[in-house]
Amino acid sequence: MISSALPAPVVEAATRALAGEPEHDRTLVLARLRRCWPDLVAGLDEAYGEAAAELAARVAEVAVAAFLARPPALRLLDLRRLVEPDWFQSPRMLGYACYAERFGGDLRGVAERVPYLAELGVTYLHLMPLLQPRPRPNDGGYAVMDYRAVRPDLGTMDDLAALAAVLRDNGISLTLDLVLNHVAAEHEWARRARAGEARYRAYFHIHADRSVPDAYERTLPEVFPDFAPGSFSWDDALQAWVWTTFNSWQWDLAWDNPDVFAEFAEIICFLANQGVECLRLDAIAFIWKRMGTDCQNQPEVHAVTRALRAVARIAAPALVFKAEAIVGPPQLVPYLGVGRYVGKVSDLAYHNSLMVQVWSSLAARDARLATAALRRFPEKPATTAWATYVRGHDDIGWAIDDADAAAVGWDGWSHRAFLSDFYSGRFDGSFARGLVFQENEATGDRRISGSAASLAGLEAARTPDERAVAVRRVLLAHTVVLGFGGIPVLWSGDELAALNDPSWDDDPAHADDNRWVHRPRMDWAAAGRRHVAGTVEHEVWTGLQARARVRATLPALHAAVEPELLDALNGAVLAWVRRAPEQTLVALHNMSDSWQIWPRAAVPLPDPLRDALSGDELAPGDLVLAPYACRWLVRDAREG
Ligand code: GLC
Repeated sequence: MISSALPAPVVEAATRALAGEPEHDRTLVLARLRRCWPDLVAGLDEAYGEAAAELAARVAEVAVAAFLARPPALRLLDLRRLVEPDWFQSPRMLGYACYAERFGGDLRGVAERVPYLAELGVTYLHLMPLLQPRPRPNDGGYAVMDYRAVRPDLGTMDDLAALAAVLRDNGISLTLDLVLNHVAAEHEWARRARAGEARYRAYFHIHADRSVPDAYERTLPEVFPDFAPGSFSWDDALQAWVWTTFNSWQWDLAWDNPDVFAEFAEIICFLANQGVECLRLDAIAFIWKRMGTDCQNQPEVHAVTRALRAVARIAAPALVFKAEAIVGPPQLVPYLGVGRYVGKVSDLAYHNSLMVQVWSSLAARDARLATAALRRFPEKPATTAWATYVRGHDDIGWAIDDADAAAVGWDGWSHRAFLSDFYSGRFDGSFARGLVFQENEATGDRRISGSAASLAGLEAARTPDERAVAVRRVLLAHTVVLGFGGIPVLWSGDELAALNDPSWDDDPAHADDNRWVHRPRMDWAAAGRRHVAGTVEHEVWTGLQARARVRATLPALHAAVEPELLDALNGAVLAWVRRAPEQTLVALHNMSDSWQIWPRAAVPLPDPLRDALSGDELAPGDLVLAPYACRWLVRDAREG
């Protein structure tokens, strides 16, 4: 273990570099360096052992240089964030995720659409991968060739910085993907590895024969069993096997190489200096490999993240990290920090289980499994937040735990099979119209693609009544994620109840990947109908907008507060209470298509009950919930 004291040569180098800066900036950066140094060396020590001390000094220089290059507006943002460190936990946060080209055509087009986002109440925008990818296919941009260039059809790095500034002026934080598990096979590092440069061969996991790959594969799960079976690909130029967890043209990086860490420390600072406020750490679970394991969630993943975060805290403390770790509950919380690392890993993480439980409850018309699963979910650190969502750009994998299913008397395997049947529309009477994604014959696993509205029954609806019911399902699903706590992230199109895209496979580069069925181009004519009463678009848009507005006013929805699941006294109702010092909120969701009663005695609030969603004061007595209805019952502390 190396000492956590800041070495004099590091201070001297920083002082020299900062010599031309105003005194307050010199003081500030040195203070940040002192504050973050122990976190940096602890993370690096755990991941890199003997190489840690030198690496720490090297990336500290990177961080200071990045501060020097940081534009004044972003230095100011750093200060603003430091005085409001819980900004991303605020109930006014509302996320939106989209492809720049599908939403606005290009980056300038996105900037022109900012009023649309502001009208909805958006405060956080995740633009899907837009850094220079390999030529298609490129997994929707998740195969990056150059981290310092924007895809030319979208614009330039200057356009990105300009867009970030427009967003910032409108109170919207820009999120970009940091694809760090792999690079495109065409990235310069991969190219130089193929050319035989030892330095760059060491950036990847390269094996001359199958012995090591075979040994790893004995315990590796399949990520894309259909179109990319196995986790290694043969490369003719290398004359070797290279680790490729995802597609053969996405080369996994060897994160145990300190040079890879240093490269990404620079990339992170560079992107932060363009005005990116949140980095989505793509497929972060996979970055560290260990023989005999599934090579996910290894402790070094968290050590590396902590060290990268320490670099960012020195250079650009406004930046937050969001972990994209679609892993089981016990494995998930370490991405936000446990024990002495609480609050020192990622700031945000996707709540995949909540999303799965929403769809599971709607299909089963039963909330007991969701209640059991969410109740057993480990608590997250109070300084972090979930990213909650109904749908995103990926498929839905049925992450239903066998023990949770058993707790309500169900069989996990059968329920997962039911959900796949239900959401692919094969189950008799199903309202859903999804597609099976990546059937794994070995495990029986069938994931699902499909838009929220199509999965919720709008596509299958034939009558006005059926359509009305489907809209209620869409709004209910979103109310669950708006009221759970964290940043609810809407997937582009869902605010208008967009259906599956029937022409998703017209593009040959997409034809083998049916996730494109729920990645439609923005339909601006449909968006226009959001202002036309009587249309589905109007109903869903205004419903979401109203919920977001109410949400923004409720202190009980601050992400520091943990939801406590209430007993499923009525098995169709998903219910929780959130107790903030200023306010208590009880959320009730009828996940079924029939009327339900929730006993008054099971609402831990005194009379009179006020529903923040409708603004109504409720009549005394048991609560009656219409099909798919929800209530946010609130009581302010000052009311006694
Ligand atoms: C993440 C992305 C997914 C992509 C994968 C590989 O899981 O969400 O779309 O295919 O990483 O980068």
